This record gives sequence, structure tokens and C-alpha cells, in this order.
Amino acid sequence: MGVPTLEDLPPLQGKRVLLRADFNVPLADGKITDDLRIRAALPTIEWLRGQGAEVTACTHLGRPKGKADPKYSVEPVRERLGELAPGVELLENLRFDPGEEANDPAFVARLIDGFDAYVNDAFGASHRAHASIVGPPRFLPSAAGRLLAQEVDVLLGLRDNPKRKFTAILGGSKVSDKLAVIEALLDVADELLIGGGMCFTFLAAQGNPVGNSLFEADQVDACKALLDAGRPIVLPSDITALGPGGELFAPEKGGDVRQVGTGVPDGWMGVDVGPGTAADFGDRIAEARTVFWNGPMGVFEDPRFEAGTRAVAEAVADAHGFTVVGGGDSAAALAQFGLDDRIDHVSTGGGASLELLEQGDLPGLHALREGIAT
Ligand code: 3PG
Ligand code: MG
Repeated sequence: MGVPTLEDLPPLQGKRVLLRADFNVPLADGKITDDLRIRAALPTIEWLRGQGAEVTACTHLGRPKGKADPKYSVEPVRERLGELAPGVELLENLRFDPGEEANDPAFVARLIDGFDAYVNDAFGASHRAHASIVGPPRFLPSAAGRLLAQEVDVLLGLRDNPKRKFTAILGGSKVSDKLAVIEALLDVADELLIGGGMCFTFLAAQGNPVGNSLFEADQVDACKALLDAGRPIVLPSDITALGPGGELFAPEKGGDVRQVGTGVPDGWMGVDVGPGTAADFGDRIAEARTVFWNGPMGVFEDPRFEAGTRAVAEAVADAHGFTVVGGGDSAAALAQFGLDDRIDHVSTGGGASLELLEQGDLPGLHALREGIAT
């Protein structure tokens, strides 16, 4: 990846190190529901302290839009970090200051004041050209932490040198968000299995009715062009749909749930891939030597529509090939099904892992590579 790593830093005995982490963890009622991103920074913290450094961590949390907002205080993270790595300080939410997202040089200067070195271990935020990501390497000896280095190794390995067959599975709601990634995955993978809300725009491009399913009219032409070009896209062959009167997350409201083919009738909403698709995707995943999965197959948070996502999660967990799962929602699904420890690499980055696969680089990596010289 060509960026400095921890061993490239000058001696750290008695030095103060600023650690940019991505502790943007999911919270519910002020409680952390998944601390993966905090645990993932521990190897770097332990290494730095083993060298005699004093570590101060910093992170963003949510999107508080440049002003202090108690709802986005890092206090719950500080508490958990205090349990996992006692004595590591944590600065308040970087995004309480508009200078962070604006990449304001004055904010960078305040942030690095008093520090001797900088470590970026915030893989999940390294696709953002924000002050704390791209600023410090211009002024301090800087390096990628263990997590950032490992994420980059794994994901660039998929991009550059995957074992074949390479099967990619993409879900999530919007084609428009992921078109560039779809193109990039089609360049490296041998087949791309598409589920989630975005599959309905592809199904519509094949001429299927989609009922009330998620659907982006302005993306139909782009989907059609990909299908017409004979790109190796595999779409669902059946769909689980919710009937008229039904509501997501509210089974008591009624509404039938049934399997339909690739066409969703008027008044019905497709919300998961069906059992035939789950079996087909499962077979394809089992035959692969490299698997990359991003994005749920359906609305798995509603138990009536978790089956497709669960089937894919189980197939990925059972796969003999090298398995990588990227993205907050897919990682959350794995945790919900208790399968997260059966995946070779669960990425801590959603947007960052997709952008790295797509571009082969990230602003945070570029900044470390340029270093103090620029
Ligand atoms: C994430 O959770 O995807 C990262 O922490 C980046 O957060 P952001 O999308 O708000 O920049
Ligand atoms: Mg495996």
C-alpha cells in the first residue's frame, strides 16, 4: 500500500501520540450496541504504549453538523475505551467543530498542538478528506495503524489478486449510491449477486413489475445497459413480498407475506429475496474461493424478512473460500445471527471499503504517503 506503518515512526518513549480512530459506533438509547470498532483499535494502542508512548485518541461520532450536541457526545465511547484500554484519553467528537469536515488548517493546527506523532487507524473514515484524516501527516511524523494497514492489505488483495472463482454479493437500498462500486466489482469479480432494495431497479430494467418495492426510475437505463452488455450479474429468481395493508416492523397491522416470482404485483412490496434465490446464492458462494459481501438482502431487522440475509450470512460463514464482509449493516447482520467469528475478515468500514475497492486508494492513505514533505 506504500504508506508508512508503525515501525517507521521515530522512537516514541515518552512521546505524545495522536491516534485518529473510527469509533463511530452504533448507539441505542445512549448505549453502544456493537463495540467492534473500539476493539479493533486495541492492537495499535497496545503497540504504541509498548513503545512508551502516551496515547490520545480522537474520533467523530454521527453527523452533528459542526456544533456541539449532547446527543453525539463521545462519553459512551470514552467509558468503553476506559474499560478496554485504561489511561487512553479520548478527545470530544471532532465533528462538533465545523473545521473538521471543512478540513480547516486552523483546526488541524489546534488538533495537533502538543503532539509528537500521528497515527491513522480510522479505516472506516479514511475515505473522508477531513481535517483529522488528511491534515496531521503534513506536520507530524505519521503512520498507518495496524487496523488500517490490515484492512488495506485485505481489500487491495481482493482487488488485485483474488483466487478464482471470486463471487461478490451486493445488497442495500440504492443503485445510485453503488453504481461505481457495481462497475468496479464487475471488473474484478467473476460474478456479482444482487439482492436488497437495489435489485428491484435491475428487475424493472428486465421488464418486471415491481409494485411498491424500492425502485429508482432514473437508474433503470444504467441497470439495463449493464445487463445488455452481458456483465455477469445474477439477479433474484424469487422475492418475498408484503401484501396490501402490511407495514414493516409492525406484524400486528396484518398484510400477507408470500413468495412471488421476479414480478411484484400491484399493491405488494418486495422486501427480501425468496428461498429459491437464497439457495442459488448459497450454492454460488459455496463454490467460490473468494467471497466479498456488502449489504443485506432484505429488511433483516424485521424477523419476517430476515431469511434471505440469514441464508447469505450462513453461506458466507460456511464457505471454504476466503471471505470478506464489508459494511456496517452486513456486519450488524452477522452479529445478529452470531456468525461474525466465522468470517475471515469483517471490515470496520462500509463506505471506505467500497471506495477502496472502487478507487484502489483513499484520501487518508494518500495523505500518509505524501507525509511531511508536501
Ligand atoms: C462510517 O460509519 O461509515 C464512518 O465512520 C464514516 O462516517 P460518515 O459516513 O458519517 O462520514
Ligand atoms: Mg472460509
